[in-house]
Amino acid sequence: MEKTKVAVVGMGVVGSGVARLLLDQGDRTARHAGRTLWLERVVVRDVERARELELPAGVLSDDLSLIIDDPEIKLVAQLIGGLEPARTIMLQLLESGKDIVTANKALLAEHGGELFDRARELGRSIAFEAAVAGGIPIITSIGQCLSANQINLLQGILNGTSNFIVTEMEEHGADYAATVAQAQKLGYAEADPTMDVDGSDVAQKLAILAHLAFGARVHWQDIPRQGIDRLSPTDIQYASQLGYRIKLIAVAERTDQRLELHVSPTLVRMGRPLAEVRGAYNAVSVVGDAVGRTFFHGLGAGQMPTASAVVADMIDTAVGRTQITFRTLELWSRRESGVGLLQHRESSSRFYLRFSVNDHPGVLAQIAGILGENAISIASVMQHESSENGGDHQIPLIIMTHSASEGAAQDALAEIDQLDSVQAGSIRMRVLDR
Ligand code: NDP
Ligand code: HSE
Repeated sequence: MEKTKVAVVGMGVVGSGVARLLLDQGDRTARHAGRTLWLERVVVRDVERARELELPAGVLSDDLSLIIDDPEIKLVAQLIGGLEPARTIMLQLLESGKDIVTANKALLAEHGGELFDRARELGRSIAFEAAVAGGIPIITSIGQCLSANQINLLQGILNGTSNFIVTEMEEHGADYAATVAQAQKLGYAEADPTMDVDGSDVAQKLAILAHLAFGARVHWQDIPRQGIDRLSPTDIQYASQLGYRIKLIAVAERTDQRLELHVSPTLVRMGRPLAEVRGAYNAVSVVGDAVGRTFFHGLGAGQMPTASAVVADMIDTAVGRTQITFRTLELWSRRESGVGLLQHRESSSRFYLRFSVNDHPGVLAQIAGILGENAISIASVMQHESSENGGDHQIPLIIMTHSASEGAAQDALAEIDQLDSVQAGSIRMRVLDR
């Protein structure tokens, strides 16, 4: 059988899974690729480091030139994280005639334009299924399978680490810091998990999806975002009493020619598919004008789910399919985007509000008054009886609103936080009923 020599740069969580699939499932990959994907070289930073997988003799190296200078290696899985040296290595690999497969969404979200331009100029391709939602084939689905549609709505849970953390907090009352450490140990989190939990990783993935689905050229840092790093167990409990679970939700919704994008911890009604996504699972709901609502669910982080997507991309590239779709894919093309962004203040939602108030007469009326002045209608109020009879101690007051604009909600909370009987730092989260 014909042999295609391939290489892997980076043998951490994902790279080890890719090497494992290539070595242990060679027959399977050969059957699908119509040729053997021969793992010729794996390049890492530190060859002395203990590895969970033993490679055939002579494969492991810390010398990138062994790949760059080998004209027989045509296909490289680039699996190091972060921006540099990942960007420089990717450019060097392209310049030396390699097609690339990558899982690095941070790199694509930041330098996708430059890398895709260079790949097109050089007649090379970049495949990146693993960069968004791990093992879920969402890039292929949106880029190819749903291409007959105008996509109008995309809602998703796009970070496995965050979803693992909120699930553990909700189901087991787990401690936040300990759960972050567990997500790192399980291989879900990035080397530095900050971007997993502060919403940045999700914004990067949403920018890629919005680009693919709507042609929107938006930089991930321009997407309003909030993570789960300040989520309190108190809100998880109140949400549960109200019949909701809190999830880190990414939204891209097109109305006319304007696109609403945001990432935020959101109350999702129990029983809705997104509310039932647990642990390191991700999910994406995509609504197209012809297909209607579709729902994709699967592991969004972790070694083998991610390796599954990387190796499928390697097979597609070895066969020549990637090169065809890469030429026609609108992603980071030079074509002008016809889609403008909706100002975040103009977007609307129902809201969950939690105030910490003094148990004084008239406090509820003051808060309701300010909400009313800002055209925010109250849907329900929850305040448990206090064991003390009034006074200066703080009690929680939960208000669910009807749909209101983001701007009105921001203004109302800023005003309420100024009241003497309300502790500053009131909580506001979006509610997803649709
Ligand atoms: P790891 O931190 O586990 O592994 C990174 C690898 O890159 C290590 O093997 C490291 O070498 C190697 N490396 C770093 N710098 C260099 C360099 N200069 N030259 C050669 N090798 C280098 O990361 P992951 O495997 O978790 O993630 C890889 C990519 O995949 C990231 O972009 C991540 O965002 C993405 N991703 C990760 C998922 C996951 O579940 N973990 C899921 C989806 C995407 P050494 O081992 O010697 O230190
Ligand atoms: N750290 C990422 C996550 C990996 O937890 O979702 C997948 O991109």
